[in-house]
Parts: sequence; C-alpha cells; structure tokens
Amino acid sequence: MGVNNGLTLQEGPTTKASTEQCDHKPLAHYLSLLCFMLTIVTLLQTLCLVQITFTSQSRSIAQEKKLQDLTNRLRKLNQSHHLLFTQYPALSQYCPTINSSTGDRECRPCLADWKLNGDKCFYFSEDRADWISSQYRCMSLGGAVATVKTEEEQEFLFKTAQSLSQGDSYWLGLRGSGVEGTWQWSDGTPLENGPQFWYHQPDITGESNELCGRLTPADNYRRSWFISRCSGQLRRICERRQASLQ
Ligand SMILES: *[C@@H]1O[C@H](CO)[C@@H](O)[C@H](O)[C@H]1NC(C)=O
Ligand SMILES: *[C@@H]1O[C@H](CO)[C@@H](O)[C@H](O)[C@H]1NC(C)=O
Repeated sequence: MGVNNGLTLQEGPTTKASTEQCDHKPLAHYLSLLCFMLTIVTLLQTLCLVQITFTSQSRSIAQEKKLQDLTNRLRKLNQSHHLLFTQYPALSQYCPTINSSTGDRECRPCLADWKLNGDKCFYFSEDRADWISSQYRCMSLGGAVATVKTEEEQEFLFKTAQSLSQGDSYWLGLRGSGVEGTWQWSDGTPLENGPQFWYHQPDITGESNELCGRLTPADNYRRSWFISRCSGQLRRICERRQASLQ
C-alpha cells in the first residue's frame, strides 16, 4: 500500500504537467477522429440509400415485367375463349352466361328446359302433336321421342310427367306393327328386350291402324303405358344424350 502511494505521489506532478502541455493536441485528434467517423457514417448511409433505391427499383421493374407477362397471357386466354364460343355456338347453349355483368358462365350436361336423368336429357313438351310430328320435333332438337330402357328411367319419366302434365299424356318413342304383332322403340330396338309398364298388356296382332305408345301419369308408374292411334294429338317426351366432348 505504502509503495503504491509513494509511486502515485511521485509521479503525480509529471503526469499533470504532460496533460496540460498536450491539452490541445488530443482535442484536435478527437475532432479529426469525429470528423472521420462522421464521414464514414455519412458514406455508409449514402451507400445504404443507394442500395435501397437500387433494390426497390429493380424489384419494381421485375414486378412490372411480371404484370406485363400476366396481362399478355390474360389477353391470349380471352382471345381463345372468345374464339371457342364463336366457332362452337353449341358451347353457348350448354354453357350459358349466368351473370351478364361479370360474364360468368356455367356449363351443364343438358340444354335449358331439359332434365338430366342418368346419362340422358329429357324434354317434356307443352304443345301437342301426332306421333310422327312429335318425332320430327324431337329430331329438330337433336333428339328422338323418349325410349324407356330401365325401371328407374320409367319412374323418373312418370314422376316428372306427373308434376308437369296437368292430366295430359305424353308420347313415348313406341310404335306397334299390327302385321307382325310386335312393338319397337324409335331407336329400332324391340320392346320385348326390356321392361314393360303397360296398363293392360296389349295384343295388336291383326290391327290395321297405326298404333303408338303413350305415358299417362295416373297413380302407378308400373302401369302407365297405353295404346293410342298415332294420329292422336298428345304432348311428347324427347330424349338426347347428355353433352359430351366425344
Ligand atoms: C376480352 O375480350 C372482349 C372482346 O374481345 C373484351 O370486350 C373484354 O374486355 C376482354 N376482357 C379482358 C379481361 O381482356
Ligand atoms: C353478378 O356478379 C356481381 C359481382 O360478383 C354480383 O354483385 C351480382 O350479384 C351478380 N348477379 C347475379 C344475378 O348473380
């Protein structure tokens, strides 16, 4: 302790003297150092700013390019979309516009007013005609008078007819030949190949009149087919396949 004190006391004056002597020198040093540091900081800041500007500029250039690309692709898509709908008018029938302000479309397997069941679309007319005219009217819509190939189909046609007919009957695509005593569907297949839903099993052997089959939606779908003269004026059920690209 004593030694330390002695040393401090001894060297005290010398230290003090040198501090006083060089009082302005460190100040200058300090200032120039400060200046230097300030310069460095300013430089760094500038560098930073330049980099930020550069980065954001290149980023916005990249974004602009991307936007341009997307706009071009949208224009091309819009063009091919318009081309498709002008070259294939049937597309507009199957994919009608559902919102005229946005131009949104919805594609459906059946035309408007046709009802889908299984893979067929059915149309229930309100007007009446004889059987042959009915067949032509269905053909002009791209179909034929309806055939019934399964019990499920019969039930669907019966129920739909019941809800729409107000008591009317509908032509089915069913024709009888009195000479042969047989029935045929309008697509050429013999009736005897599939299920039958006659009210009374008809015997037409020897009949000279042209006979056709109608659906009368009373109360039992299993017994709702009747014989009619083909010249009778009835509503009709048309059928066509659901839309497909094949
Ligand atoms: C698509 O094209 C039609 C006519 O060609 C135009 O009216 C419509 O504005 C275009 N839509 C877009 C998003 O470019
Ligand atoms: C059509 O689309 C617009 C915008 O999405 C919507 O506000 C409007 O309700 C739509 N109109 C119909 C009839 O759906």
